[in-house]
Amino acid sequence: MLKNWGDYFVVNVSSPNTPGLRSLQNAENLSNILADLQGENQGIKPILVKIAPDLEKEAIASILDLIQQYQISGIIATNTTISRDGLKTKIIAKTGRLVSEEAGGISGAPLTQRSTEIIKFIWQETQGKLPIIGVGGIFTVEDAWDKITAGASLIQIYTGWVYQGPGMVKQILQGLLQKLDERGLNSISEAIGLAHQK
Ligand SMILES: Cc1cc2nc3c(=O)[nH]c(=O)nc-3n(C[C@H](O)[C@H](O)[C@H](O)COP(=O)(O)O)c2cc1C
Repeated sequence: MLKNWGDYFVVNVSSPNTPGLRSLQNAENLSNILADLQGENQGIKPILVKIAPDLEKEAIASILDLIQQYQISGIIATNTTISRDGLKTKIIAKTGRLVSEEAGGISGAPLTQRSTEIIKFIWQETQGKLPIIGVGGIFTVEDAWDKITAGASLIQIYTGWVYQGPGMVKQILQGLLQKLDERGLNSISEAIGLAHQK
């Protein structure tokens, strides 16, 4: 059984690349999944839910209700998007096809703001009590800071790592330390959700 080996487990029903998968995010389906998993897990290992950035606020709010009901340890926001809004590239040079007609999720820069907005929404809805892992279009220390101050207590990077390589981690960590310093904060935990205190 995997449960003996993982430190935490993520219910990822938010990838746009598997047909039909995202329909498992609706309350009834997700409720069944979480009930079965927690029945097996008995709350021993942390279970988190990863959500799509394309969900309406009402759908996110019902996922948050389930998270509370099944004592889920946190939420990962977000997966890739099916939106094609704001893309500079309209036609794929290699194939001549329209970007808007391509299937699949988009990661990286087009996602930065959207995933931060979702983190803000989750933080507000849960009064900052639910651990949020922020992911989506983090390339710079500013991007990381925005996710943390929006409410993320951890961050993940996928696309940024592909473009900038492992050196970006050190750069971001140093930048975050500088930001704490400038603001007279002692640790990252004091920065979590700071954007809400304006
Ligand atoms: C090539 C690729 C494969 C991915 N595979 C998964 C996956 O298997 N499971 C998952 O939860 N997210 C997957 N993701 C989503 C990323 O974990 C992340 O949520 C998303 O790309 C946004 O972060 P980023 O902008 O830093 O890439 C994948 C993303 C990319 C680009």
